[in-house]
Amino acid sequence: MKTYIILIFHASLMVSSIFGVNSTTENGDMKCKERERHALLTFKESVQDQYGMLSTWKEGRNEDCCKWMGVQCNNQTGYIQSLDLHGSDTKHLSGEINPSIAMIQYLKYLDLSYLNYSGQIPKFICSFSKLRYLNLSYGIYIGKIPSDLGNLLELQHLDLAHNELSGEIPSHLRNLTQLQYLDLSENELSGAIPDDFGTIMHSLETLFLFDNSLEGKIPKSIGYIRTLKYFYADTNHLSGELSDFIIHHNYSNCIGNVSSLQLLSLYDNHISGMLPDLSVLSSLRWLFLDRNRFVGDIPTSIGSLKELKVLNLRDNSFEGIVSESHFTNLSKLNDLDLSHNSLTIKVSHQRVPPFQLLYFDCSSCNFDSRFPNWLQTQNSLSFLTLSNVSNLPPIPHWFWGKLQTLYSMDISNNNLTGRIPNLELNLTHYPEIDLSSNKLQGPIPSYLLQAGSLLLSNNRFADLISFICNKNNPNILGIFDISNNQLKGELPDCWSNLTSLQYVDMSNNNLSGNIPFSMGTLVNMEALILKNNSLSGQLSSSLKNCSSKLAFLNLEDNMFHGQIPSWIGGSLQQLVILSLRFNNFSRNIPSNLCYLRKLRVLDLSLNNLSGGIPTCIQNLTSIAQNFVNSTTSMGHEYFPRNRNFSTGYYVFNLFLMWKGVDQPYKNADVFLKTIDLSCNHLTGKIPTGIEYLFGLTSLNLSSNNLSGEIVSNIGNLEFLEFLDLSRNHLSGRIPSSLAHIDRLTWLDLSNNELYGKIPIGTQLQTFSASSFEGNSNLCGEPLDRKCPREDPSKHQVQTTNTGDDNSIFLETLYMSMGIGFFTSFVGLVGSILLLPSWRETYSKFLNTLILKAFTWWKE
Ligand SMILES: *[C@@H]1O[C@H](CO)[C@@H](O)[C@H](O)[C@H]1NC(C)=O
Ligand SMILES: *[C@@H]1O[C@H](CO)[C@@H](O)[C@H](O)[C@H]1NC(C)=O
Ligand SMILES: *[C@@H]1O[C@H](CO)[C@@H](O)[C@H](O)[C@H]1NC(C)=O
Ligand SMILES: *[C@@H]1O[C@H](CO)[C@@H](O)[C@H](O)[C@H]1NC(C)=O
Ligand SMILES: *[C@@H]1O[C@H](CO)[C@@H](O)[C@H](O)[C@H]1NC(C)=O
Ligand SMILES: *[C@@H]1O[C@H](CO)[C@@H](O)[C@H](O)[C@H]1NC(C)=O
Ligand SMILES: *[C@@H]1O[C@H](CO)[C@@H](O)[C@H](O)[C@H]1NC(C)=O
Ligand SMILES: *[C@@H]1O[C@H](CO)[C@@H](O)[C@H](O)[C@H]1NC(C)=O
Ligand SMILES: *[C@@H]1O[C@H](CO)[C@@H](O)[C@H](O)[C@H]1NC(C)=O
Ligand SMILES: *[C@@H]1O[C@H](CO)[C@@H](O)[C@H](O)[C@H]1NC(C)=O
Ligand SMILES: *[C@@H]1O[C@H](CO)[C@@H](O)[C@H](O)[C@H]1NC(C)=O
Repeated sequence: MKTYIILIFHASLMVSSIFGVNSTTENGDMKCKERERHALLTFKESVQDQYGMLSTWKEGRNEDCCKWMGVQCNNQTGYIQSLDLHGSDTKHLSGEINPSIAMIQYLKYLDLSYLNYSGQIPKFICSFSKLRYLNLSYGIYIGKIPSDLGNLLELQHLDLAHNELSGEIPSHLRNLTQLQYLDLSENELSGAIPDDFGTIMHSLETLFLFDNSLEGKIPKSIGYIRTLKYFYADTNHLSGELSDFIIHHNYSNCIGNVSSLQLLSLYDNHISGMLPDLSVLSSLRWLFLDRNRFVGDIPTSIGSLKELKVLNLRDNSFEGIVSESHFTNLSKLNDLDLSHNSLTIKVSHQRVPPFQLLYFDCSSCNFDSRFPNWLQTQNSLSFLTLSNVSNLPPIPHWFWGKLQTLYSMDISNNNLTGRIPNLELNLTHYPEIDLSSNKLQGPIPSYLLQAGSLLLSNNRFADLISFICNKNNPNILGIFDISNNQLKGELPDCWSNLTSLQYVDMSNNNLSGNIPFSMGTLVNMEALILKNNSLSGQLSSSLKNCSSKLAFLNLEDNMFHGQIPSWIGGSLQQLVILSLRFNNFSRNIPSNLCYLRKLRVLDLSLNNLSGGIPTCIQNLTSIAQNFVNSTTSMGHEYFPRNRNFSTGYYVFNLFLMWKGVDQPYKNADVFLKTIDLSCNHLTGKIPTGIEYLFGLTSLNLSSNNLSGEIVSNIGNLEFLEFLDLSRNHLSGRIPSSLAHIDRLTWLDLSNNELYGKIPIGTQLQTFSASSFEGNSNLCGEPLDRKCPREDPSKHQVQTTNTGDDNSIFLETLYMSMGIGFFTSFVGLVGSILLLPSWRETYSKFLNTLILKAFTWWKE
């Protein structure tokens, strides 16, 4: 749902300024109070104002502080009533808040958001007894929420979002009875929401609790807040059932009446049980219950929520039948996500539903052998996902016509057979089309060239020529994945009108011949993956021209021969991943590969390379950096020309040998830094420059003819997790520095000519003896062979192999599991990302997205 992403969210939407906050007040003659002016100046001294936000705050007897930036005085009394010192990502105050500002006793409005100050929320904040608006969001506050905030009897807006507050939500906020807006989201709060929460805060309109670690039931009392309109508690560990706080509201004597509730967002919690009758929520417009543990049927009463625009039930264990009676009055429904449940959809054939959907996801639904013909009536449909559907009958022709108005269509994983019909279609939105994992065959119709992204992997397509060599090529296609098909013969030589291509994956086919000349015209190409084909010859120099963007070149498992061309190092300056593994490349490794300053993964294993390892290897600048460059994006997007929203997203996946098994790694370009030159005929010493490749996570030089000693400072490589130097002729002692690499989880030094004692350290003794075998003069643990004059009692080894806990490899590997090209909008709430920072980014992304969509629909 890329359109929503570009809509600008006006953060101030829900909170119009209560007092007409205006820093340039029309104060007439009213001068500010000396005491307050002094307090402000003291405050100014205590903070660092590196962006000059307080530059108008000046000393001097006649300075009227009411005219200072961010200050507003009461135009009758002259007392300061508002201080708006909010910052932003790029401009903010830092440092402490001086308690002096507590002198400003009539303050009603205080916005200190984005203050870069790490510490507890200062107690004196709780002494502004007249405060109605307090914003401390986007700071770095730690510790508990002070229960003294309960002194702020008149508080109406309290925003503590996006800090590092921990502990429980205090239940002593008894006096905050006027509160209308409470935002505690994106903190580290834990424990249960206090039972009496809703009884106290009975005037709340907006309650944001998302992205914390709250647990337990949602208290009944929340349901009693009759003013509540927006309730976000997603991304927590809340449990219990929805009926805990919703079902009781038809009791006539209770104050509770949640009929004002417009938005209920509880996705990504542990809420279980059946979905109760929600018809009391008569104003409900947005309902997000995805990624919970709901079971049972969806009650037909949901069909009475006539204001409902968004219904997201994705990723639960709902079962049973969904029929037209579920949608009786849902005439405003735009967004319906029933995916990843066990639902059977039975809507009668002739039915015209009351709604016009924009977004429909019914992945893993059962269509009971009826094609959803009602989709034909959905003229605004933009995002359609019907992947992995059970009992999907053959697709009627009109369905393909839907592509003309869609932004994305995913009908992957459906065992669809036969051909894609060749129709006359104009795909106006350059859609993202996913037909992967079916059994489609025959020619690929030319209208699909108008897709922004076309995913055809795992099908039975055999012919590329009629598609690629089409005379009326609109040059739109950006992402093209036809891996795992039956393509055979030479690659067509008519790529020159496809310069829009950015990501091309033709791996796992039977393509032969060389890389055609016209591929050199693909100047926008970032990724070319031709892995596992039968391509041969000396590598054609045409790719030299793809120098401006090409970051990922994967030619592994082919039959290329000859020297690795020097233009790779000379021209492809953007390369991040280069894999030439398992070909017949021979002769020297050209030393100008060292010019590839952005290279992070170099895999030349399983070739016939000879000569030495280039001594300039330390010039691989990216590998030498021992940090992740945060500006390197995770994933890449394709924006068709004249469009400011992307039609697809791709990541660089790579298979790498890890612990002896070929494993898939997602985002290999971001997380991994590896060099694999194994299984060649390399000779000479390991260049000492290796010890400067501080960021290296994996080094495999095994099965070569390397000699000399292991570089003594190899322990510098503190990120190294995988080191295989086995099957060479390395001699000398194992450098003691090796014992200092805490992350090392795989080590193989076997079958060399190493001698002496295996150094003692936290790591080396945790490996099995096989890591050291085949070195006839090596001794000490873990080998059975004792070293001469060794006192066995002296070397009690601590086995603290902690490597696995923070393994970059494992994190990257986990991320690779089950995450495809993820599309858009709430639809992407599918994958569990294990890397914490990623998960965080992801859920933040999701929240912003929902907020954006929400704002848009609200308008
Ligand atoms: C608090 O400040 C942040 C950042 O300046 C802003 O996005 C948010 O809308 C403010 N909260 C309220 C309730 O106004
Ligand atoms: C502040 O007041 C001035 C004068 O009335 C007006 O021109 C300006 O737009 C106001 N600014 C804001 C942010 O309301
Ligand atoms: C004083 O301020 C209030 C609200 O800020 C405004 O409505 C009123 O017009 C002002 N009075 C004068 C005399 O400026
Ligand atoms: C916040 O302050 C700390 C130390 O004062 C500084 O290192 C950090 O860069 C600041 N953060 C921002 C976002 O300015
Ligand atoms: C609530 O307000 C009363 C005065 O109205 C005060 O005595 C009491 O301390 C306040 N409670 C809290 C928890 O701040
Ligand atoms: C409340 O609603 C439920 C379900 O709609 C119904 O079974 C129950 O009788 C109602 N209770 C009262 C007191 O109206
Ligand atoms: C596709 O076919 C395979 C094997 O026949 C079957 O296991 C799988 O469930 C089918 N998928 C769908 C979505 O019907
Ligand atoms: C597609 O667009 C072309 C020109 O823009 C137009 O001539 C043709 O009729 C359209 N075809 C359909 C099926 O809409
Ligand atoms: C590329 O497009 C031009 C017209 O834009 C056409 O004349 C030419 O035949 C096309 N080339 C190929 C290889 O399709
Ligand atoms: C490697 O870097 C050194 C110093 O930065 C430079 O002198 C040398 O030319 C570089 N060699 C290559 C092959 O990049
Ligand atoms: C991080 O990557 C960006 C883009 O590739 C580059 O411009 C920047 O210099 C890099 N930063 C560092 C510290 O290397």
